Amino acid sequence: MTKIFLVLVLLVFNVLVATSAGNFNQDFDITWGDGRAKILDNGQSLTLSLDKTSGSGFQSKNQYLFGKIDMQIKLVPGNSAGTVTAYYLSSLGSTHDEIDFEFLGNLSGDPYILHTNIFTQGKGNREQQFYLWFDPTKDFHTYSILWNPQTIIFSVDGTPIREFKNLESKGVSFPKDQGMWIYSSLWNADDWATRGGLVKTDWSKAPFTASYRNFNAQACTWSSGTSRCPSKSPNESSWLTQSLDSTGQERIKWVQKNYMIYNYCRDTKRFPQGFPPECSAA
Ligand SMILES: *[C@@H]1O[C@H](CO)[C@@H](O)[C@H](O)[C@H]1NC(C)=O
Ligand SMILES: *[C@@H]1O[C@H](CO)[C@@H](O)[C@H](O)[C@H]1NC(C)=O
Repeated sequence: MTKIFLVLVLLVFNVLVATSAGNFNQDFDITWGDGRAKILDNGQSLTLSLDKTSGSGFQSKNQYLFGKIDMQIKLVPGNSAGTVTAYYLSSLGSTHDEIDFEFLGNLSGDPYILHTNIFTQGKGNREQQFYLWFDPTKDFHTYSILWNPQTIIFSVDGTPIREFKNLESKGVSFPKDQGMWIYSSLWNADDWATRGGLVKTDWSKAPFTASYRNFNAQACTWSSGTSRCPSKSPNESSWLTQSLDSTGQERIKWVQKNYMIYNYCRDTKRFPQGFPPECSAA
């Protein structure tokens, strides 16, 4: 508790604007793909592509420690079977933290799977998977991560789909000490992505392309051990203390009841000795 308080005090006193209404040129570097990733429209949009030779990816210039981070993504249309579009936050090293969205492609007309996971101190195995309630290839949709000292909330178009609360009091580690970069990549994973690897990538349909726009981060940036947070009005930094209100809890229940297709917290085969501690409190 005291630790969280200290972190908050540090955050509040470190005044420097880190809110950015995204420009891909300013906020990101293309990290791989030999020309297959492109920043377009003066930084207003970005595309990743994948062909038989290579996928592609980009990474944020900043490291972040807490924030409300939104990205609009339009996924690979048509036959995207075998492809994976990953969008995630991660730090480095064997005890890294990570917050993942991964979109598993499918045959035309068959549903994508939104795969999520959370690593803390290098330990993951917290998969939850969902179908979406819309076709994510027809238009851009907003995928958000709210990450503050109390909780992590994954949202899709403003609807929360998953929460990972800070349960350090129950011995579950929580990401709060390591800055994370934002990463995204499009690659071939036809050994597992679609129907568990049964459906392979159809390379006659390549190149496969995913598009990004309207990146927005209300976030604290992290650099050599120092956190810098937005010094806007208290309202605008309310993400720092935000938690799920009752409407949010109803929405999460709705999503989990109607669209969740896998939850590690219900996988008795995998955890015959009992579920991880965060499962009972989630
Ligand atoms: C692809 O479509 C099949 C058939 O509807 C479905 O079982 C599967 O969950 C879908 N998604 C992926 C990524 O395999
Ligand atoms: C901050 O929020 C309060 C309550 O929601 C509202 O009354 C006030 O006008 C807001 N202030 C600003 C600067 O937006």
